[in-house]
Amino acid sequence: MCGIVAVIGSRQAAPLLLEGLKQLEYRGYDSSGLATIDTTSNQIPSRLICKRAKGKLLNLRNLVDTSGSPGRLGIGHTRWATHGRPDEKNAHPQIDSAGNIAVVQNGIIENHVLLRRSLEAEGVEFASETDTEVIPHLISKELKLLKQVGRKSSGAMLLEAVRRVSLKLNGAYAIAVIWNEAPDALVVARRKAPLLIGLGEGEFLCASDTPALAGFTRTILPMQDGEVALLTPLGIELYDQHGDRQKRSPSVLRDSEQIVNKRNFRHFMLKEIYEQPETASLWIERHLPEGLPSESPVALPFDASFYKGVEKIEILACGTSRHAAMVGAYLLEQFSGIPTSVFYASEFRYAAPPLSPHTLTIGVSQSGETADTLAALSMEAKRRDSLGDPDYASRQLGITNRPESSISRQVTNIIDIGAGIEVGVAATKTFLGQLLAFYGLAINFAAKRKSRSDEEIKKLIEEIRTVPKHLTLMLETHNELSEELSHQFSDTQDVIFLGRGINYPIALEGALKLKEVSYIHAEGYPAGEMKHGPIALLDHKVAVISIANQGIVFDKVLSNVQEAKAREARLIGVAPETIETEIFDSLMPLPVVSELISPLLSLIPMQLLSYHIAANRGLDIDQPRNLAKTVTVE
Ligand code: G6P
Repeated sequence: MCGIVAVIGSRQAAPLLLEGLKQLEYRGYDSSGLATIDTTSNQIPSRLICKRAKGKLLNLRNLVDTSGSPGRLGIGHTRWATHGRPDEKNAHPQIDSAGNIAVVQNGIIENHVLLRRSLEAEGVEFASETDTEVIPHLISKELKLLKQVGRKSSGAMLLEAVRRVSLKLNGAYAIAVIWNEAPDALVVARRKAPLLIGLGEGEFLCASDTPALAGFTRTILPMQDGEVALLTPLGIELYDQHGDRQKRSPSVLRDSEQIVNKRNFRHFMLKEIYEQPETASLWIERHLPEGLPSESPVALPFDASFYKGVEKIEILACGTSRHAAMVGAYLLEQFSGIPTSVFYASEFRYAAPPLSPHTLTIGVSQSGETADTLAALSMEAKRRDSLGDPDYASRQLGITNRPESSISRQVTNIIDIGAGIEVGVAATKTFLGQLLAFYGLAINFAAKRKSRSDEEIKKLIEEIRTVPKHLTLMLETHNELSEELSHQFSDTQDVIFLGRGINYPIALEGALKLKEVSYIHAEGYPAGEMKHGPIALLDHKVAVISIANQGIVFDKVLSNVQEAKAREARLIGVAPETIETEIFDSLMPLPVVSELISPLLSLIPMQLLSYHIAANRGLDIDQPRNLAKTVTVE
């Protein structure tokens, strides 16, 4: 959700900014821009150059190539529109009226309307519809005041101005600011939105996410909530919101946190779908080593006290993560015997259920930055704290693919799903990683609580160990099959996904994937619910994709499918390869596995079919319209 990059050093800033923005384009891609401070003409003050372009980053690159943007200090932005249409004037950087101060922002300034009104009352004219534009105007005002006192260097003045302004801003944001009168100063600040400082040799690069630092540095200093930093060629000065100097050591990024390339795949989404056998193998290697004690058969980073006394679980998540949470809830209830509820994080924030004791709260977020999930977790922490729940901190768990993200700083216990960076906006391998995390958690809870026998637990573990092999085989057959089937969808406008029990969330995920990348209207339903409404939609133009795995609801799903067949809908079955039925028009075969592990496999046809339908339609699969991978706004 918007990506920001900023650089100061000895090299030309614009190429570094464009490279960093390319790596962050998954965060937003409806417009982009950059600003640099040009000191080449020795003119005082130096010149602020700002370039912005609507559409993909390529447009900005062409603009910079043709018109130039010299300077060794600069800031850049790739936008996912929240306030104001995606056009040139609303792209960032936003600048003050005199054109001396430039600001890029990721997040939302919630009180921008009030701030805007009071600035307008003072005669400030706004040039954009963005919430961000208030920031350069406010900084300009503060700088005028500071100049009157005039005892500080220009860099220190800019730092102080940004610190003062950040105290006036409500919301979640990360900003980077440059000023033509401070050609050696880059000021950055963050509150509730991510921002990392990368330490290079004689240069610094700040960014919203680690891929932007690839090839630049592996040494990073993640900024903490409310901090403001002044970066100069001489070093970093870090302050908290009160202006007190902070000292912290940098950390080193793992390779997997930086590397993003498509290898030989046409799209990141396909590459990431194909990486799933490896995601599962790595997970098994790390979490299911042989020889663990029977009371803790899965290696997770918690001690016995984490599991003790949990009577209820609540899970907060959005989008695909919520679907993983629903499979998790099924496992935690049906396998481990713990009552579990799943909430949309965005709803939970404003309508949380009454508190009950001994509850474990789990936040699921592949990015670890989703504003709604973080806010819901933090609200729940405050609620419990105010009621004096003594073990609340240890009763919070985050499941994420980004252990260096905000969720890890907010929550005591973390399961790192370790799927490696996912670039495609539509989540695929991180979904599998989240599911596996829930299997691990459910198994350990079942073992501790003795809700399942050792044999049942052992059997489930053995089945999970077979998943990478099944996934590899399925990718081979299903890729071709999905490609063939996708041609039947060239005119399709509505698709219904059906599933029951543990596969109902997979039906929801199938519908979400298809909507996200192909823009076809799709809905997921529990198969038994179809007769209560959706059946009215069915005719020969509608496709119904039904997950029917062997298990307690197998025959039920088949009967539900018959009802669709009677309405002439086109039926695609995601069902065991051994199934003996003529009911489906097409079959996407599943290996014969237990119902309990079937979601780990039935996700493959959902992902591949969506991918190929979108590819056939020539769509921008890795960057679907209006979507962003990391949603740092409410
Ligand atoms: C966005 C992404 C989805 C993702 C959702 C939740 O909408 O496009 O793919 O499922 O956010 O993101 P999270 O990072 O919290 O899992």
